[in-house]
Amino acid sequence: MEINYVFLLKLLLGLFSFSSLGRADPEPLNDYCVADTKHPRDFFSNGVPCINPDHALASHFATSALSEPGNMNQFNFNVTLTNTNNLPGLNTLGLVLARIDIAVNGLVPPHAHPRASEVTILLEGSLLVGFVDTSNRLHTQQLRRPGDCFVFPKGLIHFLYNTDFMRPALAVSGLSSQNPGAQISSVATFTSNPPMPDDVLKKGFKVTGQDVIKIRRNLGG
Ligand SMILES: *[C@@H]1O[C@H](CO)[C@@H](O)[C@H](O)[C@H]1NC(C)=O
Repeated sequence: MEINYVFLLKLLLGLFSFSSLGRADPEPLNDYCVADTKHPRDFFSNGVPCINPDHALASHFATSALSEPGNMNQFNFNVTLTNTNNLPGLNTLGLVLARIDIAVNGLVPPHAHPRASEVTILLEGSLLVGFVDTSNRLHTQQLRRPGDCFVFPKGLIHFLYNTDFMRPALAVSGLSSQNPGAQISSVATFTSNPPMPDDVLKKGFKVTGQDVIKIRRNLGG
């Protein structure tokens, strides 16, 4: 019997789109599910339990959490996120917003969000942004003007670098999950708890034991 390859391909594509691969957060069953931030969490679900919808207020859907920059970290950046505590109305909606402050010549080092794509809009300063795809190709762009945007596909390693020596940069990102997660590649590999075996790092990065000690110390591990 002759195999109909086109049909087979369509069938496979169909199966993939129904599988859980790349699926967004679960669809909410209600208009909203304002997070119950008052009561202690004694059970855990996928998301946060919600208050009685009759008690929802407009203020549950507003926040000033992004109005101030946070404190700079060792890489000279800070990310402030909305979450179900500072913006309870966000619960189950499948997104968060991030305020990103990057000091003069600061770097958000290569990192990945396992559960979200991210779209970044530059508000002040300028940024060199980029991601590496799974074929190891680097895609970079210089964001120069307020309003310039860039999108980082879900799960791919990316960075934001303020190449400017005079002006700090301010950007806002929307992420396509209520809980995007973040792993900074260098920090996750060199300062995990408990630490990865030195031999794994030596072989993985083709460096010496001294290099491992140095990098770990530099990263505060
Ligand atoms: C940003 O600043 C806040 C408040 O100063 C701090 O709690 C948080 O850990 C910082 N986040 C990062 C990614 O530096």
